[in-house]
Amino acid sequence: MSSAADDALPARLSQTADAIEALLDGLLQAVPGAGEIARPERLLAAMRHGALGGGKRLRPFLTVETALLFGASEAQALRAGAAVELLHCYSLVHDDLPSMDDDDLRRGRPTVHRAFDEATAILAGDALQTLAFEVLADPATHESGAVRAALVLCLARASGLGGMVGGQMFDLAAEGRFDPGSNALAENEIRRLQAMKTGALLAASVEIGARLGGADEAALAALGQYGRAVGATFQVADDVLDVEASQEQMGKATAKDQDKGKATLISALGLAGAKRERDRLCEEAVAALSGFGEEAAMLRAAAWFAATRQN
Ligand code: IPE
Ligand code: IPE
Ligand code: MG
Ligand code: MG
Ligand code: MG
Repeated sequence: MSSAADDALPARLSQTADAIEALLDGLLQAVPGAGEIARPERLLAAMRHGALGGGKRLRPFLTVETALLFGASEAQALRAGAAVELLHCYSLVHDDLPSMDDDDLRRGRPTVHRAFDEATAILAGDALQTLAFEVLADPATHESGAVRAALVLCLARASGLGGMVGGQMFDLAAEGRFDPGSNALAENEIRRLQAMKTGALLAASVEIGARLGGADEAALAALGQYGRAVGATFQVADDVLDVEASQEQMGKATAKDQDKGKATLISALGLAGAKRERDRLCEEAVAALSGFGEEAAMLRAAAWFAATRQN
């Protein structure tokens, strides 16, 4: 049964997406920023291609909705959300590279290495990543240096060796490309891989919003459970959509995971089992918010969106 928040989510998500688009556009202008020397035109164009004009913007939505729950200013919440989205866009640019997933289409357009070239795509990803941290560290994101440092720490931990990048390493290794004789991953190893490559950044999107708004430890713990469950739901949904959705619908190639030997919960549980798990994880996310009232309705709706999305 859909709630009022479920019905309100699409308009709210699209409103946040527009605000994020405008913020990112402003950050990616030709005029050098404070402390910069010059902005190479080709690199800037590739960064704009990778960051503007597409995407659901679910991560910044989670950041903004969580931050508003704790009374953060909308302008600061949007900046923090833009930082998370920049990190995500970098991860997509690199994920699509020929040496990684080798994809030609992203968000309905050629991937950055197809529209430009591979070296430019690598550099564009690098610079999107550093811009994400610059935005968080900027005093415009929060007046307290301690809060800004906590945001930077959270994003760094979620993104690196023990988070997104580490998960990408497990993902490539699971294809058997480094050790052709290796066995298929066990279910718990697939869950760990997904918690890292996708779950960590989604959970950080929530945590960054909570820290920006000054949430206490109990709220941070509950939202941590929520964010990890939403992250897990989201990746299982991505794996299901790879099987069930069309390229036109997704704006990226589908029906590719099995051929590439990707470790997904579908390979471990079958399609029906993966869907049940996706829905169970979504319920787990909603249950983690039981201590919050009606003010968390949009976060509950976001968990359902992560599970039932059609693109
Ligand atoms: C795609 O993320 C990569 C995964 C982690 C599955 P999204 O599905 O959020 O991609 P966009 O930002 O909407 O394009
Ligand atoms: C992407 O996972 C995870 C990251 C970008 C970190 P996938 O490789 O499954 O994402 P898609 O299907 O290419 O969007
Ligand atoms: Mg990948
Ligand atoms: Mg990929
Ligand atoms: Mg995928």
